[in-house]
Amino acid sequence: MKKLFLVALVALMGLQAGAQNVSVSKARFQKGDDKSWAKPEMNDVSWEEIDITKNWDKQGYVINNGYGWYRIHVNIPSSLLKGADQQKVVIFNLPKADDADECYLNGKLIGHTGGMPDSKGGYHSAWSAPRRYAVDAKKGGILWDKDNVIAVRVYNSGEPGGLFDNPLNISLPNAIEGLSLHFTDVNDGQAHCDVELSNAYPLTTNGTLVVTVTDRETGAKIGGLTKKLSPKQGKPARVSVPYDKKKSCMLTATYTDAKSGKTINRKLPLKYILTPAAPSSPRFNGAPLFGVRPNSPVIYRFPVSGERPMKFTCANLPAGLNLSESDGVLSGKIDHSCELTFTVTAENAKGKAQQDFTLKVGDRMIALTPPMGWNSWNCWALSVSQEKVMSSAQALIDKGLADYGYCYMNIDDGWEAEERNPDGTIAVNEKFPSMKALGDWLHARGLKFGIYSSPGDYTCGGYLGSIDHEQQDAESYNSWGVDYLKYDWCGYGREHAKERDKGVASYVRPYLLMQKYLREQPRDIFYSLCQYGMAKVWEWGTFVDANSWRTTGDINDSWRSMFDIGFRQQVGLAPYAGPGHWNDPDMLIVGKVGWSSNLRDSRLTPDEQYTHITLWTLLASNMLIGCDIAQMDDFTLNLLCNNEVNAVNQDVLGKQADRISKDGDIEVWARPLSDGSQAIGIFNVGNEDKKIDLKKYVSPNLTIRDLWRQKNLSEGELNCTIPTHGCKYIKVK
Ligand code: GLA
Repeated sequence: MKKLFLVALVALMGLQAGAQNVSVSKARFQKGDDKSWAKPEMNDVSWEEIDITKNWDKQGYVINNGYGWYRIHVNIPSSLLKGADQQKVVIFNLPKADDADECYLNGKLIGHTGGMPDSKGGYHSAWSAPRRYAVDAKKGGILWDKDNVIAVRVYNSGEPGGLFDNPLNISLPNAIEGLSLHFTDVNDGQAHCDVELSNAYPLTTNGTLVVTVTDRETGAKIGGLTKKLSPKQGKPARVSVPYDKKKSCMLTATYTDAKSGKTINRKLPLKYILTPAAPSSPRFNGAPLFGVRPNSPVIYRFPVSGERPMKFTCANLPAGLNLSESDGVLSGKIDHSCELTFTVTAENAKGKAQQDFTLKVGDRMIALTPPMGWNSWNCWALSVSQEKVMSSAQALIDKGLADYGYCYMNIDDGWEAEERNPDGTIAVNEKFPSMKALGDWLHARGLKFGIYSSPGDYTCGGYLGSIDHEQQDAESYNSWGVDYLKYDWCGYGREHAKERDKGVASYVRPYLLMQKYLREQPRDIFYSLCQYGMAKVWEWGTFVDANSWRTTGDINDSWRSMFDIGFRQQVGLAPYAGPGHWNDPDMLIVGKVGWSSNLRDSRLTPDEQYTHITLWTLLASNMLIGCDIAQMDDFTLNLLCNNEVNAVNQDVLGKQADRISKDGDIEVWARPLSDGSQAIGIFNVGNEDKKIDLKKYVSPNLTIRDLWRQKNLSEGELNCTIPTHGCKYIKVK
């Protein structure tokens, strides 16, 4: 009878028992919270049946800032022990839990992930983390061949909530199953890759790790090491492998367990630098022109690389302008429309360079080339602070990025206070002691100051928007010295929902309103529209005098996201871009990013990062760095500071590239440049390396320059391999 009951229960719970593991996808469920529900003897017959692989919201439960309990009845057969490599440790691999969980086996806590509001560390979400709880096979409280009760307490802060993803899986792993290899590729100073072997389970393994570094072009082995290791739970084993940071290499790590001969392995394409080192003598790296409106303050830092100290002079500087001798910052005001041409000289101990420069003064002269700078969102998200902006700005100068034209320092969402001041003006939160001081500090260094708001009541991050306060906000921005406004639709969606006619005019209206007040300010404020491309914003962006408009949703550091945004969603948009008004496929996702204070290396491979910068420069996109500049390594710095690559983005003709051919996985994007040449990106968007003959795309009689390597290609170099997701970037004349 008892056996019959268990069989029925097993069927009810969706359990499948095999020799190797037990898998369960159903449980009994109760909303609320009572710690006695962990007890095995508690009667749960009245609880409802639930699928543990689907979130609460998918099964009709709405539990926000609250708890729910699952009880899973499961027979754990002793036959599991028989076929296993070891009989000591049983792993309970739970579904993921949105946001935090505690798991009890027959009344005993066996593991927890995330933090409940009542726990010591306080609430923190771990909704995407795996839950693998190890239990001692003998002493851990498992009732072999009997009914066991696994009770899981789940706390959810906001929808969807509950257990989800994989079913509960109970198994006895071999010594290798809990192992994982992690890499930290440090392309700085003496480049090295740290390889970490960690063991999630309390099982012993002794074995050998073999790491090899191979040249991806020739296939030759050029480095590596072999080491005996025994990684323990909580005590990972580590080795550090040096490599040549200028060569494209593949690192392969293989660990073999001595007893079983079982192996795990992983590969990592290492970062590699193509950009040649800049000369120590001065070199001008910026476009030869800059625009400003009459009577607006000029702030322009000449981007010049080379050893410091450096001296900047100009023999024919027009009246009304100043050039600071030590850092090359042009300032002043011109009160009428005109074009002023003059020659700037930069000199240091190693030599001298000159640039013939034009200042264009007129009503629509903001951003004659795409803006270059930094935005806080992709790294700090809502945790941005004045201190972080200043440290990034200082790093922008110290690391030499300002010498390549990066100058806007843009605060994204998260700076606003909870309430406006009594007079209706916008107030800042405690993370920003003084916007005016921040603006002055940036301007004193020739950098520019950007800010963020929404035409709606709230921003995407839930901070105050500008609705009904547009004029006051534009005036506040002016008084703080703001040079750039990103105006993000977000909360305006609620206003828009009230519109009876949702035609194009309803999308234009909020942007036109802010334009009026922005342009009334006595300073140039770059107007950046962010509404994800709705109502074909590229068709009317110039009508609201926008300087750029986001064409898509938010980017993240995955190939899928970058590919969709960069390759798929920009086709056909080239005619809409031009000097003063640019398509914006979102910010750069190279360097340490993470949308929090928990930053990680961009998940794009090195080849994908070359593709990202190549495509964004071809697209005449805004070039806003989205990482923590203070932590930027040599690889990222060289990606962002190749003067010939950046010159394509900053080309004064302002023509955006279009896709000119697509042949299977090979896409070719090209744009004409002001010197009569063409910049061409040949991309391999497929998953395999591809051999190509460049002669198929360009005549070998032309001069073909490899922009990343900054050298002309000989005929013998035209047959080449483009790695998966990589590219060739050439200039043809
Ligand atoms: C939206 C924007 C992002 C960022 C966030 C801030 O998602 O598209 O770029 O500004 O809002 O909340």
